[in-house]
Formats: sequence, structure tokens, C-alpha cells
Amino acid sequence: MQQTDFLVIGSGIAGLSYALKVAETFPDKKVLVMTKAAADETNTKYAQGGIAVVNDLENDSYEKHIDDTLIAGDGLCNEKVVEIVVKEGPERVNDIIEWGARFDKEKDGEYKRGREGGHSEFRILHHKDITGWEMERALLDAVSKQENIEMIKHCFVIDIITQHHLGFLVTKATPDVECYGVYVLNHVTNQIEKILSKITLMATGGNGQVYRTTTNPTIATGDGVAMVYRAKGRIENMEFIQFHPTALYEPGVRGHAFLITEAVRGDGGILRNSKGEAFMEKYDERKDLAPRDIVARAIDSEMKKTGTEHVYLDCRHFSKEKFVEHFPNIYQKCLSIGIDITQQMIPVSPAAHYSCGGIKTDEWGRSSINNLYACGECASTGLHGANRLASNSLLEGLVFAHRCSVDAAEKVNTISFQNEIPDWNAEGTSQPREMILITQSLKELQLVMSDYVGIVRNDIRLQRASRRLDLLWEETEQLYQTSTLSPQLLELRNMITVGYLIVKGASFRKESRGLHFNTDYPSKSEMVQNIVL
Ligand code: FAD
Ligand code: SIN
Repeated sequence: MQQTDFLVIGSGIAGLSYALKVAETFPDKKVLVMTKAAADETNTKYAQGGIAVVNDLENDSYEKHIDDTLIAGDGLCNEKVVEIVVKEGPERVNDIIEWGARFDKEKDGEYKRGREGGHSEFRILHHKDITGWEMERALLDAVSKQENIEMIKHCFVIDIITQHHLGFLVTKATPDVECYGVYVLNHVTNQIEKILSKITLMATGGNGQVYRTTTNPTIATGDGVAMVYRAKGRIENMEFIQFHPTALYEPGVRGHAFLITEAVRGDGGILRNSKGEAFMEKYDERKDLAPRDIVARAIDSEMKKTGTEHVYLDCRHFSKEKFVEHFPNIYQKCLSIGIDITQQMIPVSPAAHYSCGGIKTDEWGRSSINNLYACGECASTGLHGANRLASNSLLEGLVFAHRCSVDAAEKVNTISFQNEIPDWNAEGTSQPREMILITQSLKELQLVMSDYVGIVRNDIRLQRASRRLDLLWEETEQLYQTSTLSPQLLELRNMITVGYLIVKGASFRKESRGLHFNTDYPSKSEMVQNIVL
């Protein structure tokens, strides 16, 4: 058993920047970062386009960034939170620059600024087309130099520990549910250990793997949201799943799809259907740079009309030199599958990309469970509303990591460890006989979610999804009760819970707003509400 003042679950931008902040504030306190995979295997590492921030007050303004965020969010953003993130953003971006992140600059030393869908100005700082890789590199480097941070890799956090584990009945109505730490499956020892903590941060990222095709890596299985839901914490707005309009279409490739950043459209890329027609002007006057929900739905509609599995992104008019300078990774990836972007159009289709909802937090990142914070993609802070504005996610991660650290710093000395926590009880479990029971259920879940709960939804599809998820849940729960735990089984269980929450949120929302489009209720309802589960 270990004890730590600060426990951080996740090693992406949210977890690492928070760990650095609390470690710098309390050099004498221990900060433990846990991650279920290699340290850098995160959504953060794959971020391409960049980080949206107002850093040129002559040509841009906080008000414009706030307006762009509110417009994309389609009436559901928390205006106070939007203002906080936009206005505190520049200082937080300076933090990561101080930790060593490099953003591209012009010859005169000014930062290069890109543009993406929904942004009225050029304000996206980037490192070529591998911004996330660069940020993750800088953060891991800074963490390795901070002596009071310990990083434990390949450790799967199973559940947070609350009064439930002390034998008390905990329900959604229980006041003051407390987080005392976590149970983890150590992949190296294959043992389930308990870690006690005074303050815990959930920074477990997104859930794209719930769908068949996603831009997210395999770690993105929604574990944090599922854990908090099981612990009776509040989860919000899960129906708002953002599909990125332009994942590279590669026949036969399922699961993790390569992204073609929206910055390519920001630089002039044009979407065309299978007949070669530029179609976006039919859907929105902002054409290819309309917010993502609109572009993804337009592509979905074109694909359905023409019966094809993709559309095209046309970059043939770009100067090769300029394209390679800004997008070297994309250029190489396309070449590797036989596409020379100066001669051929890039086949693209939408893929699950980002979860706008998640663990409900207040403006200091506090979840509804005492001593448990949530930050980054697993959190629902109110910034994104019904649709996230491009490149606002890395910014939110930095701003809220800082805010969580400030609030936690005030609290940590008032909390004691709870020493009565029992060890994990694995009695009556044995090795599962067949992995196919897990892998086949995962495929079924991904099919159900993609076919019934994707870009366009309706009530019959949602009811069907719900019935199928019930069966998957029942079978998986039985397996969970009787099997020796494995990361695959734990992830499947979490993904079914997340699928259930998405379907529930979608079923309760009797309107179409932002990323949630239900053909049975094609307009917005007059009642503007968050759906809290
Ligand atoms: P992550 O970076 O995903 O980190 C999650 C961490 O939690 C990982 O370390 C994981 O191992 C760990 N973890 C999860 N479950 C467990 C568990 N049970 N036990 C232990 N550890 C666990 N946003 C932008 O703003 N700009 C962009 O340009 C941009 N481009 C993107 C491109 C791609 C291809 C993708 C996928 C996303 C992009 N996004 C972008 C979104 C953004 O990258 C993510 O939302 C953000 O990086 C999430 O950071 P995070 O720290 O919350 O989670
Ligand atoms: C992209 O580069 O297109 C992704 C940006 C984002 O998800 O914010």
C-alpha cells in the first residue's frame, strides 16, 4: 500500500501540468502520477492543429475568442467559465513555454498563428502538425526534473475508494461522498493494490474507443468517467460526442484513424464529394471553416447521397513547400499510402474525436465527490457546451490544471489519510477461459455505438442501442464478478458504462443542438439545459 498527498491519474496535458504545479508549490510533498500505458501514450501526444489563445491584442481580442467559443457551444457553454479560460489562457500558455514547449515562429520572432473551423481570427499556436507531441515531450521532460513527482506506468486504476468500501451504502443522494484513494491493477505484478491519497485528480482523457473509428489512441476508453459514475459522482452532457470531419480514410483500417488536422482547411484545403464538387457552401456560409458539428454532418450527408465511404480534401492548389513546412507529418503519412497531396485529393471521413461532456466540475475543477478533482477531456467544466471549438481543449487542460492546483493547495493540509480501507477482495475469481468473450463484446459495442449513436440519431436507434447495451452490460458484469481482472476486461466494462451514459444523455435530450442531432426533434428546444446523470 502506498500513501501520497497528491494522486494524479493520467499523464496527458491535464495530469502532468497539474502535477508540476502542485509539486512546485509543495516541494516537500509527494505527487504520484499513475498511467495505464507508457507515459506518453495519451490523446495529448496526437494533437495536431495547436492551442487556441489570444496573444496578439492588436489583431485579436478576448471578446472575439469568447464569442467564437459561445457560438460553437450552441447555447450550452457556461459563460463565466468561457471567460476564465480565454482570459487566463495566455498566462498558462506561458507556463508551458517556460517548461520547454516550442511553438513555431515567423522570421521576425513573432509566433505563427493558424486558423481552424469556428475561429474568427488566426490565433492557434502550433508546432508544425505535431503540437501535442511537442507539448507532451516538454511536460514529461519537466516532470522528470521535479524530484517530488513519482511516475508509475502500466498501472490500471480500477476504482476510486469511497465510504462504499468501508461498508456504507452510498447513493446519488448521499451527501459528502469522499475519495480516499484508488484500487489499481499493477500490470507488472498482476496484483491489485490500494493507494491512499489526500487529494486525487482524475485526468484520464477521452472515450473515442467506444466507437469503431476514432482519432483517439487505444487508451481513450473513458475510464475516469465510468469510475466516477460508479462512485455516484455527477456526470454531465455525455451525448455531445464530437466527430472530427477529416480523419484519413484508409480501407480496412478501423480503430485508431490518422487525423488530417483542421488547420489544413484553415490554410485553404477544400472538401469535395465523390463527383469532385466543393459542397460546403450548400451547408454553411462559413463553408469549409464552419464549426465541426456542421462540417461533419455535411460530410455524412454527402456520403449518404453518393453512397460512398468518404469524401475528399483537396490540397492540390497548395505550394508543396508551404504544405511540407506546416504539415510535414501529414505529407509523409499520405505519401506512405501512395497519395501525393500535390497531385491527388486526400480521402477523408468523420471519426469520433472528442467528448465534450464528462465528470461535472465547478470552476475550480472540483467534482461532486469531496477531495476528487477532474480536469482535461474527462471533465465537463462548462467550456465547450454542445460543441467544442477547435483547439480549445489543450487550453482548457492547462487552465483547469492550474485552477485545480490552486484549490487543492488550500485544502491538502486539512485532510488526513483514511486508514481503515480494506484490501481488494478477489475471492471466487479465476482466469477467464476465452478472451473472445471480451474482444467480441467490444466489437459489438463499437458497432452499436457507431451505427445507432453516431453523427445522426433518432429515437428508434437510441432504443435499440439501449437494449443491446443492457445485454452487453449484463454479460460483462457476470464476467467481471467471476474473472481475474485484466486491463481488457476493465476497459470493456468502462466503455459499456460510457456507451450507456452517451445513450442515456442522447435519449433525454429531446432536441437537436450542437453535436447532438436527432431527426425526430430536428430543432432546438426553448429550454436550455445540461443533462446530468
Ligand atoms: P490524455 O492526454 O488523453 O491523457 C489521459 C491519460 O490518462 C493517459 O496517460 C492514460 O494512460 C491515462 N489513463 C486513462 N485511464 C486510466 C486508468 N484507468 N488508469 C490509469 N491511467 C489511465 N485539442 C486541441 O486543443 N488542439 C488540437 O490540435 C487537438 N488535436 C487533436 C488531435 C487528435 C488526433 C486527438 C485524438 C485529439 C486532439 N485534441 C486537440 C484533443 C486533445 O488532444 C485532448 O482533448 C487532450 O490532449 C486531452 O488531454 P488529457 O490530459 O485530458 O488526456
Ligand atoms: C485538429 O488539428 O484538427 C484537431 C484540433 C482539435 O481537435 O482541437
